[in-house]
Amino acid sequence: MSATEVMQKRFAAALMPNYGLPQLALARGEGCRVWDADGREYLDLFAGIAVSSLGHAHPALVAAVTRQVGALAHTSNLFLHEPGIALAERILALLGPGAGPADARIFFANSGAEANEAAIKLVRRHWDRQGQSRARTVVVATENGFHGRTMGALALTGKASIRDPFAPFGIDVRFVPFGDADALRAAAGPDCAAVFVEPCQGEAGVIPPPPGYLRAAREACDTSGALLVIDEIQSGIGRTGHWFAHQAEGITPDVLTLAKGLGGGLPIGACVGFGAFGSVLGKGDHGSTFGANPVACAAALAVLETIDADGLLQAAVTVGRQLGDGIAAVDHPMLAGVRGQGLWLAAILAGQTAAGVEAAARRAGFLVNAVQPDAIRLAPPLIITAGEAAAFLTALPRILDDAAAAGAAS
Ligand SMILES: Cc1ncc(COP(=O)(O)O)c(C=O)c1O
Repeated sequence: MSATEVMQKRFAAALMPNYGLPQLALARGEGCRVWDADGREYLDLFAGIAVSSLGHAHPALVAAVTRQVGALAHTSNLFLHEPGIALAERILALLGPGAGPADARIFFANSGAEANEAAIKLVRRHWDRQGQSRARTVVVATENGFHGRTMGALALTGKASIRDPFAPFGIDVRFVPFGDADALRAAAGPDCAAVFVEPCQGEAGVIPPPPGYLRAAREACDTSGALLVIDEIQSGIGRTGHWFAHQAEGITPDVLTLAKGLGGGLPIGACVGFGAFGSVLGKGDHGSTFGANPVACAAALAVLETIDADGLLQAAVTVGRQLGDGIAAVDHPMLAGVRGQGLWLAAILAGQTAAGVEAAARRAGFLVNAVQPDAIRLAPPLIITAGEAAAFLTALPRILDDAAAAGAAS
């Protein structure tokens, strides 16, 4: 039995089966490379679901985490600490117009779903403070959108197979087709408390909306008075070549949620309230024992500093274009195209063959993700080099041939 098989057996006996049985046991990583428990090397084009923005064992992340855990690993929110304040200030500076920080305030959580739970509570508390909690009851969200697995975030998740087994939720959600500005305008009526939207749908298969969609959502919310909540949990922190994807449309949300790439692999989420919305959650309204954990905050500071110092936004644009153009140039009957922006792409397949392509890529030494039956998601670390991208592009026709020969579908 291989080391991986031994771990699979132990996993199946000790852990709930909600993740199925993972095919690979990862033991260590360095840069964009990871090694499995049996010593095989892979190029990681997936970064643990768009999380490991600096790749694996990045010296800046290792140093920041080591320093902080050696100084103070946890304080609770009954005490101030420097990394939490500095991180909030840094994020506000990145969100600000021109040279100044944004007029906004931040709540730190431990995950994306928790960041969205904070946003849902912020929306509710806002309308409660306005005396309109019974009038503004509806949240508008998008079909096939994904906002997390906790009960509030799940209620807004527009995929029936994920949501329906856990209904009811206690949130009245009106789903609209993603990218349809007219439908969004029509849904955001006087009963609408908030609109929750991703700038580009990640779990649905890296699906960008038509240009101007976020601006239309902003206008619809301005007209109705509803809050615009932008979920940048997957799209944020440089993945699209912008610090935050919504900045490309020149709009400001009322609430912004972040997680994934922010901590570079350490668990952290953030809910940003702009203007007056930054002060809606008052003393006692919300909290988290681990939220704003100093080690996670120190990691996130190292991530933001490294993205800035190493020019990784520009790299995301350049290497992203190389990857996207390279995939588009591959002439193969299994491949139908490519979509996405920066280092956040989906290779679109001609059939429902993604699981087979993911497995063939793994056999060839590349980690990619079958995000949908007909789409392979690439969300590599932002430090991926042109040479590493080229290695994948060279291997891609062979991977597709191998998937076809193996019968592709699974
Ligand atoms: C857009 C978006 N929102 C929320 C989440 C949930 O984040 P988490 O898994 O950290 O709870 C995800 C996770 O994939 C996501 O892509």
